Amino acid sequence: MYVGVDYYPEHWPESMLEKDLDGIKELGANMIRIGEFAWHLMEPQEGQFDFSFFDKVIKEAKKRNLSVMFGTPTATFPAWLAAKHPSILSKDEYGHVRAFGGRRQYCFNSPEYNRYAAKITEEVVKHFADEPAVVVWQIDNEFGHEGSDWCFCEHCHSGFHHFLEKKYQTVDELNERWGTIFWGQTYNSFSEIPMPVPTVTTHNPSLKLDYTRFRSESVNNFAHKMTDITREHAGSGQPITTNVSGGFFDKAFDHAENVRVMDFVSYDNYPVWGGLTEPIAPAAIAMTHDFNRGLKDQNYWIVEELMGAQGHNVIGYLPRPNQAKMWSYQAFAHGCTNMLYFRWRGMTKGAEQFCFGVVDQDNRYGRKFKEVQSLFSEIQPYEHVLNEKIESDIAVLYDYDNIWSWKSQVQSASFDFNAELLRLYAPFYRHNASIDVIPTDRAFEKYKVLLVPVMQIIDDELAARLKRFAESGGTVVFSFRAGLKNRDNNIHFEQTLPGPVADLAGIEIYETEALAAHQSVPVKSKDGKEGSGKVWRDLVTPAGAEVIWQYSDEFYEKQAALTLNKFGEGSVYYLATGLDSEVLEPVALDIIKKHDIWHTETPAGTEAVKRNGHLFLMNHTGRTQHVCGETLAPYESKVIQYKKNNGQK
Ligand code: GLA
Ligand code: ZN
Repeated sequence: MYVGVDYYPEHWPESMLEKDLDGIKELGANMIRIGEFAWHLMEPQEGQFDFSFFDKVIKEAKKRNLSVMFGTPTATFPAWLAAKHPSILSKDEYGHVRAFGGRRQYCFNSPEYNRYAAKITEEVVKHFADEPAVVVWQIDNEFGHEGSDWCFCEHCHSGFHHFLEKKYQTVDELNERWGTIFWGQTYNSFSEIPMPVPTVTTHNPSLKLDYTRFRSESVNNFAHKMTDITREHAGSGQPITTNVSGGFFDKAFDHAENVRVMDFVSYDNYPVWGGLTEPIAPAAIAMTHDFNRGLKDQNYWIVEELMGAQGHNVIGYLPRPNQAKMWSYQAFAHGCTNMLYFRWRGMTKGAEQFCFGVVDQDNRYGRKFKEVQSLFSEIQPYEHVLNEKIESDIAVLYDYDNIWSWKSQVQSASFDFNAELLRLYAPFYRHNASIDVIPTDRAFEKYKVLLVPVMQIIDDELAARLKRFAESGGTVVFSFRAGLKNRDNNIHFEQTLPGPVADLAGIEIYETEALAAHQSVPVKSKDGKEGSGKVWRDLVTPAGAEVIWQYSDEFYEKQAALTLNKFGEGSVYYLATGLDSEVLEPVALDIIKKHDIWHTETPAGTEAVKRNGHLFLMNHTGRTQHVCGETLAPYESKVIQYKKNNGQK
């Protein structure tokens, strides 16, 4: 098991190297991650490769039995490269060149960039391929983060045309499937087709979705190319990963495809970043871990674990004592097996002066140092527990085409995909049930419950798989707008909503309404409970389904807001509006109990995760809590032996 820090020896005088490595060793670390932003140091002039600095760092690390994760440095190219080949620089939707000065300003489709990136990757990997201390390679850094997934340059425009020609073969086929007859947009050739750059009103939805698919292909082709080069030249014992950033549902690339060719997933865990005054909700953090575990259906690493407040030009919330340590316990509970904290010491110069580390500019080993040190010593005895595979009975399904379809036309001003996925995830999380988060193309027969948030793109193949799942006894939970569109991002014609899953849900929808952020609609249950719906509402007419909740406002008094349909041996719920947790948590508990899924009740803001005979307990609140028989101080976390009386079973 590796535990350690992200270390940037190149940021400090060489005279500090040994003392820093001694301090990292005192922390209890056995790994450092280095190199991912040091291209110029390794190639100060074109073609002149020099790895002597990192040879020295690794030599000193080896003396202290520190292993190394080495980052291929293609996220930050040297200024000399941009000066010689300005065409490597990406362009925003207005055609503005993204100037040298930040990071990741390269175009994934630039032939020059691919050539130079391939060369530095090959050279650095060849140089350290036989270095036993280098035990893993990180490719680039947070692909597509900070807006770098988008580019609207000439390379991308011509690449898009090739993408379209390969997909549609003829421009007539494209015209037909895109519906370009609308607003007289029929194309005579692929070369006439624009990128979705600013226009008057809005672009064709099929064009927008296909351009996003092209972005995904651009990012992933580059990532796979660099991975292939690393694979070709790396040592046999050097696996390959890349570090996934937060905001993964907002990115224009399919993450499961991105990491398909890598050996394992790494994730950068920042529950709070920038100007946020509070961390994101515990359920939202938990979901990010379940998403990363789901990318390759295997446990994962965290290579950037937050310890200090973080931000570029603005920072915010300071993690309370033990809160960042608790987030680490939560990560381990959800499938993290190895952890590196970002970063050993905050840098006093450059853009990340306010990305605080384990040690700050005073170079003292203070509270944060001790917190990390205690985590490292406490967690390592549980390595065997952490390495066990997590098996869940519940899975949330997502599909990037569907997410990008919503982004192309959001329909409701208050719609947010991440929030709608959490609307179904959180009620089951609240009962501490284990949940996988997986793409729709993953086999899902093994599960007992499928949560299908705002899946507006449902084709016949997915509909058939969901029907088979329900028929054989599974429970499916849809939320609103299911089955609206096809994979060309167009509305199914002559199908009553929810389209291909109308019979599965046992309902029909004739009218719908978008709700703005300040709007909500009243709902009531059969036994008179009251609740509310937000964001959207489908006006549902049962067609075999039972009405569990219905609207209670004028005009729509009888229309259903939540239905339950028996289908084969299984059950199908349809959430017609954005119902709140008070409505959904009891529904989730009914489903959990029906399927005899392990769960346990804990106070709000606390979490219990059962792992192979143990319970990981986390107190996400600033108050003392009693959880599964244990008293947890504010932000305390611990692992205890699982005893029957701790949980529901
Ligand atoms: C990201 C990046 C790091 C650094 C941190 C700062 O995760 O991977 O290089 O910028 O954010 O929080
Ligand atoms: Zn480009």
